[in-house]
Amino acid sequence: MKRSHHNGELRIEHVGQTVELVGWVAKRRNFGSINFIDLRDRSGIVQLVVNHDEYPIVESLKSEYVISVKGLVRERQDKNPKLATGDIEIDLHEVTIINEAAQTPLIIADETDALEETRLKYRYLDLRRPVMQNRLITRAQIVKEMRHTLEEQGFIDVETPMLTKSTPEGAREYLVPSRVHVGEFYALAQSPQIFKQLLMIAGMERYYQVARCFRDEDLRADRQLDFTQVDIEASFLSEEEFQDIIEGVVNNVMVNVLGHEKPAIPKIKFMDAMNKYGSDKPDLRFELFLESFEDIFAKSEFKVFSDSLAQGDSLKGLILKGQAGTVTRKVTDKYTDLVKKYGLKGLVVLKVEEEGLSGSAAKFISEEEFAAMKAKFNLTVGDVVFIGSGEWETCCTAIGALRSALGKDYELIDETQFAYCWVVDFPMFAMEEGVLVARHHPFTAPKELDIPLLDTDPLSVIAQAYDLVLNGFEVAGGSMRIYKQELQQKLFEMIGFTPAEIEKRFGFFVDAFKYGTPPHGGIAFGLDRYAMALTHSGTIRDVIAFPKIASARCPLTNAPSPAVEKQLDELHLKIVKE
Ligand code: AMO
Repeated sequence: MKRSHHNGELRIEHVGQTVELVGWVAKRRNFGSINFIDLRDRSGIVQLVVNHDEYPIVESLKSEYVISVKGLVRERQDKNPKLATGDIEIDLHEVTIINEAAQTPLIIADETDALEETRLKYRYLDLRRPVMQNRLITRAQIVKEMRHTLEEQGFIDVETPMLTKSTPEGAREYLVPSRVHVGEFYALAQSPQIFKQLLMIAGMERYYQVARCFRDEDLRADRQLDFTQVDIEASFLSEEEFQDIIEGVVNNVMVNVLGHEKPAIPKIKFMDAMNKYGSDKPDLRFELFLESFEDIFAKSEFKVFSDSLAQGDSLKGLILKGQAGTVTRKVTDKYTDLVKKYGLKGLVVLKVEEEGLSGSAAKFISEEEFAAMKAKFNLTVGDVVFIGSGEWETCCTAIGALRSALGKDYELIDETQFAYCWVVDFPMFAMEEGVLVARHHPFTAPKELDIPLLDTDPLSVIAQAYDLVLNGFEVAGGSMRIYKQELQQKLFEMIGFTPAEIEKRFGFFVDAFKYGTPPHGGIAFGLDRYAMALTHSGTIRDVIAFPKIASARCPLTNAPSPAVEKQLDELHLKIVKE
C-alpha cells in the first residue's frame, strides 16, 4: 500500500503526475460506463474517474470502503470551485479494496441530521466527518501553540498526580477506593492547584501542564466530568506581568492558529461587569447594557418596586429598541419564566406606544416616572422596557440572563467575532447559606490593602483573582496566591476549617509554606471550553473526541457500568441497594 500524496493537497500543478492514494470512498456516481468516486482522507476529498469496463471492480465499491488507488492527475473540464482539489481529477489505473464497510448508521458528511445520541454511540464514524476532524485538528493546533509560547517564556512541563487527596476547591470530587488501604480513598484531581503551588515552593519558577481534571458536576453545554486544563503557574511576577504573559499566549493562538489579528483584551472590574452586563463572564459581542432604575422609582407608589427598594434591593433592566410589536404575551411569559429561574419574583415588561405605556404593570407607573425613563433612556415609540427587582447580585444575574436571551432571540450577536476581556477585582468571599465561602479558591491572595478588612468586613475584601472571558465563556481563571503561612492558615479558618481539620487535610501544604515560599500566581485555561469558543462550536462535546452526555454517561462505551463481584471484594466494597 503506497501513498505518494494526501488527497486534499492535490492541485493544478500536479497535473501530469502519477499518484498513489489511499482513503475512504465518500461517494460513487455512475454516468454510463464512467464512474466518479470521491476519495476522502483526513486532508480532504479528491475526485477519481474510472471506466468500469476497464476496471469492473469499481462496481463493487460502496461508501466507506477503504481503497488504495493509482492514477494520473489531469485537469478537470467541469471545475468545482467549492472543492480545494476542484481543478483536477485522477484518471484511475489501479484500484485495490483494502477493506469493506457495512452501511453506516449515519452519513459521513458535514451536514448531518443524525441525533447526537447516535453520533456519540458511533463516535468513530461521526469523527470521520470533515467538520469534526477539523475541530480536533484546530484544537491540537491551539494546544501546540500554547505549549510553544509558554516554553519560549521558560515554562517547564511537569506532570502531577491524578490519584491524590481531596482539596478545598469547591467542586465535588470523584473518589477512588484503595485496594491496599482498606476504607481509604484517593480523590481524582479536580485541578493540579496544590501541586503547582508546591512546585513554586520547589523553585521551579515557571510551570505548565496540559492536565486532565475530574469534577463530579452536573453537565452543561460548556462542562464535562473529565476535562483538560492548560494549567500555568509562575513565581516572582506581579498580577499585570503575569497577565501580559497570558495575553502573549492568546495573541499567538489568535494570529498563528486562526490567522486573526491580536485581540484587544480590556480589563473590566467584577462590579462593573455585573452592573453593565449582568454577568461575571460578559459577552461583549453586542451592545445591550443593563440600566439602573432605582433613581426613577425612588418614591414610587408601585408596591413591587417600593417594597423592594425599602429592603435595599436593586432595580435593573434592559431597553430593547423598536421591538414592541414582537413582544407578545407568550414572549413576555417566556422571559418572565427565565428571570424567575434566576431567583426574581417576576419581570415588569412595558411597551412604549403612541398613547403612552402599555403592559400589565403600566397602570402603576406615574406620568413623572414615565417622563423620567423617557429622558434617561431616550425612549421612543416601539421600545420595550424590562425591569426586575431583587438582591443586587441576583437581580444583575437574572437580567444578565435576559440580556443573553435577547441577544440570541433578536440576533444582536455577531457570531464571527472574538470578543475577549479580563474580569478582575473579584470579591474574595461570597455568603452561601449563611457561611463564608471563597469565591475562587482559598489559596487566592486578597489585595494587600484589603488585608485588614479580613477581620472587620470580609465580604468587602477584593481578591487578586482574574478570569479570562471569550464571547461570554469563562475560558480561564486564576489568581495571585497567598504565600505567607499565617495568612493561608487564617483563610482556611475563615471558611470554616478548624485548626485540627487543617492539620489533617492540608497539614502538608501549610507546612511547606514555612520553608521560603516565593510570591507566585497562576491561571488555568479550560482547553475544551477555549477550543469550543475558538471554533464557534455549539457545545464543548464538539471539540472532545469521546465526550459524556448530560446523564453523565458515555454513549459509546456505556460507562459507567456495574463492577464485578471480584473487583468489589478486592476493594472491600459492598453495594447497598435501597
Ligand atoms: P477553575 O475551577 O476556574 O480554576 O478552572 C479553570 C478553567 O477550567 C475550565 N473548567 C471546565 N471546563 C470544562 N468542564 C468543567 N467541568 C470545567 N470546570 C472548569 C473553565 C475554567 O475557567 N486551579 C484553578 C486555576 C488557578 O487558580 O490557577 C482552577 O481550577 O474554563
